Order: sequence, then structure tokens, then C-alpha cells
Amino acid sequence: MTQLAGKHIVLGLSGGVACYKSAELCRLLVKAGATVQVVMTEAAAQFITPVTMQALSGRAVYSSQWDGRERNNMPHINLGREADAVLIAPCSADFIARLAQGRSDELLSLLCLARPMERVPLLLAPAMNREMWQHPATQRNMEQVARDGAVILGVGNGEQACGETGDGRMLEPEEILEDLAAQLSPKTLAGHHVLVTAGPTFEAIDPVRGITNLSSGKMGFAVARAARAAGAQVTLIAGPVHLPTPRGVQRIDVQSAAQMFDAATGFASAASVFIATAAVADWRPAQASSQKIKKDGSGDVPPLAFVENPDILAGIAHSRRAESGELFCVGFAAESENLLDHASAKRERKGVPLLVGNIGPATFGQDDNALILIDAQGHREIPRASKQALAGELIAEIARRVPVRD
Ligand code: C5P
Repeated sequence: MTQLAGKHIVLGLSGGVACYKSAELCRLLVKAGATVQVVMTEAAAQFITPVTMQALSGRAVYSSQWDGRERNNMPHINLGREADAVLIAPCSADFIARLAQGRSDELLSLLCLARPMERVPLLLAPAMNREMWQHPATQRNMEQVARDGAVILGVGNGEQACGETGDGRMLEPEEILEDLAAQLSPKTLAGHHVLVTAGPTFEAIDPVRGITNLSSGKMGFAVARAARAAGAQVTLIAGPVHLPTPRGVQRIDVQSAAQMFDAATGFASAASVFIATAAVADWRPAQASSQKIKKDGSGDVPPLAFVENPDILAGIAHSRRAESGELFCVGFAAESENLLDHASAKRERKGVPLLVGNIGPATFGQDDNALILIDAQGHREIPRASKQALAGELIAEIARRVPVRD
């Protein structure tokens, strides 16, 4: 998450079994380039020791408002002012109640109250038993803290430490990281609806076989995540891939190019940006057999005839909304040589204002890539970086080319 590089995060732990996940969260934050100051309540220290959190953050943990390490003896003032964000994970039912009342009799709630609200966002990752989560008092307190400006990240559903099953688990560390990164990103696409296609398609030959390709979907998923972080409403139409859905993104799973075409043309009627990253199969078997095609022992191979799939991008790019400028279309080109020439020709052929070129064999399945962006004015190379970082750059380029909304 490039948005977290160089950021300073106060990671607050209140009491709950989910404290064990905060160790991993701290590690991920540090790995993403953030500095982390851990603050723990007395209850949190019953679940995980400050030793672990100090080792992972590389900084001594604070847990008392009387901590004399600060020159002015005011950790509640200093810690909040140094931070780019305060993240409470886990946030217990009791801690939410304390925030709702504006209590300040221990360091963590005190620094939440004392933080400069307009500059330092407060994010809460609640964790508690499902009955506690559903209780009207908790729901009421959450409404209050949200009204007071806190961002509540929601909870997961599933097995709980108490043996019950339901809502109230703390989100996974990766999910919290993604939400925090989004919170800290500039909202350059606020008010936009971004439609993304991603992954390969699967063209059935019979019920157990088909034709597909090696696209992993990683670039398209990274683009969807970056668009959401930039404040857009995002719909992601995904071919068969094994990737978690980016947070806050609407995902539509499809198999074939025909299904992707139907879904994409449907959503394109309301979208303002369309980014076609999918590696759509060019052809499909003319007829998919309803039963498995059997070897008959004769040595003959079954005749397979193909028909061309619809070009989703070209179709949408030539729609009335795209041609009138209501829908901004972006295509991808995966080439194996002469990238600039082939990709420039593809931009003309597809009729899109912006085309992103990359070398197919160097990108399929990889976590990093290098891009070339081509528009009517010329081209710009973006050197090798993680797909998430490249997606952020691409979204920033798109945001410069579309009207500002809200
Ligand atoms: O023609 P080619 O497959 O190289 O074009 C690549 C671009 O066109 C990508 O943006 C891809 O998502 C899109 N495409 C499409 N539908 C197709 C074929 C490609 O949307 N049937």
C-alpha cells in the first residue's frame, strides 16, 4: 500500500482476544513503510504484551497518561499531533462507549479526544461477541462516535473466540490495512463510478474442459482497489481468478467473454470511467458440448470450430456515452514486442483516449510490472513497480483527464 509509506500511525489496542491480530497488523503497517506508535489500554495488556508490540513496531509502547518519557509529560497531546491517523484495533465495546461519552481517564481515550480532529482521522476496528455487537447500547454508541467524526470500519462474520458464530469478529489485518490506506488517499475520483474488467475468461468446450489464459487478474484488482481508494464507486467484473475482493468494491463474477460482455455493457450505462484490464479470449468454441466429449479409441480428434468473441472494450468505447465524453474508456494491451508501436495502433483501433501497454509474458501472474501510457498527445513510461503502485499512478492519470465531481 503505497499510501502508507512515510505515514505515522498511532495504533491503539483496547482489550479483546483480537489483540493477537494486532501484532500482524503492526507488522503489515511497518512493511508498508509506515512508522507505528503503539498505545495500549490496561485491558489490552492482559491479551498481548507490550514486549511483542514494541518488538514489531520498533518503538516503546505507551500505556499511561502519566508516562514521564515525554519532555512536557503530555503524551496525550504529543502522540495525537505527530500522527497522520489514529487506528484503534481492536476497539472493544467498552472503548466505543468511552469514546461516545468523551471519557478521558486513561491515555488512549484521552489522546482520541485531544487529537486535532480536522487533520487526524480516527478509525475504529471493533471486535466483540455477537450479542455485544448487536446490543442497542453498542449500536447507539457507534452512531454517536460516527456522528462525532470517527470512521467505523465494520466487523467480520464467523466463529468467535467464545464459541459462538456471528457478526463481531475484528476485520483481518489486510482488510484494516486496505481501509486505512484508502482513508489516507486523496479523493481524486469522488463522485465517479468506475467499471473495471479483470482476469481471464473461460470458454467452455464441454462441461469439464475449456480454453482460458494465464491472466491472474492482479492488475485489474489493483486498479479497482486504487479507484476505490480515490473515492470512486467501483464495480469489478472478474473472470475466474483466485483473488480476494478489494474492500468496498462491488464484484460480479463471470466465466465467459459473452457473460463479461453482458455484465460490462449493463454497468457501462451508469459508469463514468471504464478500465478494461481483462484478458478476454479472442475466440470461443462455436458450440459447447452439453456432455463431456469422449475419446472413442479410434485416434480421431474431435473437430473444434471457433467463433470470435465480441470486443467488449471496442463496443463500449464506440457507444453514445463514450463518444459524447460521459464515459472515459481505458484499454490495456499485452504485447510481446514493439510495445509502443503495437499499443499505439491498438489505441486507434479500439477508439479509446488512453491505452496502457505492457509486455504480456512479463506481467501475467507477477506482482510487479512496468507500463507505458499512450494518449493522443504521446506516451509516458512508468518504470517497474508493484501492480498496486502502478494502479495508483494510472488512477491519478485518469483523474487528471476526467471532470472533477462533487
Ligand atoms: O485486442 P486485444 O485483446 O489485444 O485488446 C486488449 C484490450 O481490449 C484490453 O483492454 C481488453 O480488456 C480489451 N478486450 C475486450 N474484449 C475483447 C478483447 C479485448 O474488452 N474481446
